[in-house]
Amino acid sequence: MYVCLCNAVSDKTLREVVRRYQPKSIQQLRQLVPVGKQCGKCIRAAREIMDDEMKNAPLYKEIA
Ligand code: FES
Repeated sequence: MYVCLCNAVSDKTLREVVRRYQPKSIQQLRQLVPVGKQCGKCIRAAREIMDDEMKNAPLYKEIA
């Protein structure tokens, strides 16, 4: 299902990007995928998907 119709970004794409890069904010997510860069109507849905995916994301600790 498309979340962002303007840029043809699907929920599957968003979930994969969130799982892989674990963005900390919607601004970081927008740097990774072109979601919300035109009309902005998809931002709320994108945030909900990001929050949902981050709930299930494993915690990685940096090893210095
Ligand atoms: S639907 Fe995403 S910018 Fe328009």
